[in-house]
Amino acid sequence: MLVLLGIGLSASHLSEEARYHLSTAEKVYLDTYTNVLDEEEIAVLESVAGKSFFRASRRDLEDKMGDIIEEARDQTVVVAVSGDPLAATTHAALYLEALKRGVPVRYVPGISIHTVAPSLSGLQHYRFGRTVTVPYLWKNSPSFYEFLAQNRRLGLHSLVLLDLHPEPLKIPDAIEAILHWERKKRLGVLELGDLVIGIARAGKPDCFRFVGTAEELLDVRWGSPPHSLVIPGELHPVEEEFLYVVRKHGGEC
Ligand SMILES: C[S@@+](CC[C@H](N)C(=O)[O-])C[C@H]1O[C@@H](n2cnc3c(N)ncnc32)[C@H](O)[C@@H]1O
Repeated sequence: MLVLLGIGLSASHLSEEARYHLSTAEKVYLDTYTNVLDEEEIAVLESVAGKSFFRASRRDLEDKMGDIIEEARDQTVVVAVSGDPLAATTHAALYLEALKRGVPVRYVPGISIHTVAPSLSGLQHYRFGRTVTVPYLWKNSPSFYEFLAQNRRLGLHSLVLLDLHPEPLKIPDAIEAILHWERKKRLGVLELGDLVIGIARAGKPDCFRFVGTAEELLDVRWGSPPHSLVIPGELHPVEEEFLYVVRKHGGEC
């Protein structure tokens, strides 16, 4: 059986079901491509599993997908993924290929940045538009900015994820990238004085969230990645109050 297993955003998010599969599987691949995992976190996960993990790069997960699935034909093979394994399209291909080859496949959900970041922002999930990723080479392509503009036009909030390769972008990079295209295209996505929400290391013991203007966020020391940004659209009074209170009083995340 192939188990596509969501770790959540830290080892403390592991579900009972995730713990069971990690500890009983014959082999565990850990996806090291779609998120940042430090060695300490990996050591905690390996101790829960009682075994060492095979670190899987993008190449392993894409080019050697068939090999991983065949290994799972007569033993339990886990592919452990930070967050939720099916929250983005990356791992859906593994799931579908296993189904097509007649290898049993199981999905174990994990707590995802796609729900935790909106929750930490205090904005209502159903008022978010399309999630956008700022690419590493953001000067080459305005499409992420255009998607943000579409959300803005509809009055919807935006969750902005940041590219991780060749090295992880940080919140000030994302703001700089958006402001760069704002100056060129003027679609009204972001001004220096607009309120935004920066979130670093959500779900981890050293999680940090800051509500401030885009200009203020440029100067914050965010610490290590992963980072995300939320850009509010039209605000409901309850959302406005949430931002106001968190901005004034801070608060744990
Ligand atoms: C490809 S997404 C990974 C999604 C993952 N499968 C999930 O469901 O959470 C990776 C991006 O999400 C954001 N991200 C992931 N974990 C995060 C965290 N703990 N805190 C802040 N942002 C995070 C970062 O922008 C990172 O580059």
